[in-house]
Amino acid sequence: MNALVILPTYNEKATIKQVLEGILRHKNVSVLVVDDNSPDKTAGVVKKHKEFGKRVHLLSGEKQGLGEAYKRGFVWAVNESTADAFLEMDADLSHNPEDIPRLLDALKSADVAIGSRYVKGGKVIGWGMHRKILSFGGNLVARMIAGLWSVRDCTAGFRAFRRKTVQGVDFSELPGKGYSFQIALLNTVKRQERTIVEVPVTFTDREKGTSKLGVSDILEFGVVAVRLGFQTYARLIKFLLVGASGLIVNWGVFALLWLYTGVPAWLSIAVATEASILSNFFLNNAWTFKDRRTTHIIGRLTRYHYTALGGLLITYLAYFSLENAMHALVAYPVAIMAATAWNFALSYFWAWKKK
Ligand code: GDD
Ligand code: MN
Repeated sequence: MNALVILPTYNEKATIKQVLEGILRHKNVSVLVVDDNSPDKTAGVVKKHKEFGKRVHLLSGEKQGLGEAYKRGFVWAVNESTADAFLEMDADLSHNPEDIPRLLDALKSADVAIGSRYVKGGKVIGWGMHRKILSFGGNLVARMIAGLWSVRDCTAGFRAFRRKTVQGVDFSELPGKGYSFQIALLNTVKRQERTIVEVPVTFTDREKGTSKLGVSDILEFGVVAVRLGFQTYARLIKFLLVGASGLIVNWGVFALLWLYTGVPAWLSIAVATEASILSNFFLNNAWTFKDRRTTHIIGRLTRYHYTALGGLLITYLAYFSLENAMHALVAYPVAIMAATAWNFALSYFWAWKKK
């Protein structure tokens, strides 16, 4: 398997040579340095390398952040390189080039291999409390909010991707100018149902130069995480909003019929319930599941009615089985939550099933 390492650099003159040597020791691997016109003239060192123009390539540009550098690097990689795999790696010796074959090996059975500090066998050397907390918090946010629950090291900067996986990504659409690029890319490949494995690595904090991670990166990380969360859970969020609107419809129709028109309560409830089922159906149909309108509308409408009736049944069952164990005002919302989970699952897998 031929591979290309994308190596972003900003003022890494002190280590770039050693990193290049370490990478090029693997005969099947070449390097693309993406340098943002480093004032320390990192690019000069790259150009002087004896493999320059052969296995060492250079892309120079304005400094716009780590994420923007990677985006340019990946686009170049797809267009200009024939490698079967692309890697991300830091140029400050924090990542050990000797781990590259293990990452590439893992690509035999997965689309993405993460050089992970947070699985068994992985570790971090040299970080103070501040960086440890930052990384722990960042990963917690990424896993809980950005839809990356199954990944331990979401912010890792040492990763390998199959060519096809990278080709499936539209880098111009990807948020993250800075370090949040890492979770944005991971979230995208995950939503494309690519398989991800974590390979334990040791991350050793740099001995030369300084970290480029700044306050703006941390702020951007939070914003990007929330955005990714909305993308990942968009359907569920829409479904819940529609459900909430259904409650208002139900209550409004009931009030209109019973309070103001004198229709008997039992009939008002039945009509109000049907009105909310219909309004929920049409809103979900036009919004939540607008990409899933592949079966006949009457079929969808019928299946949604069965779903909603099942949900009602679940509300009763859950409520009466919990009633003795807890206060009614607690049992009821729990029952509603169970019914909502049921409604969403059946809507997703059955009422608006993929054809
Ligand atoms: N071209 C370019 N432009 N390169 C950059 C930029 C930029 O704006 N900012 C950082 N880099 C390069 C650095 O020169 C280095 O090679 C690599 O990106 C990582 O930057 P560091 O500044 O050394 O990052 P770190 O050690 O604080 O962060 C590490 O941990 C993060 C969180 O776990 C990296 O592995 C990150 O990738 C990782 O997200
Ligand atoms: Mn570093």
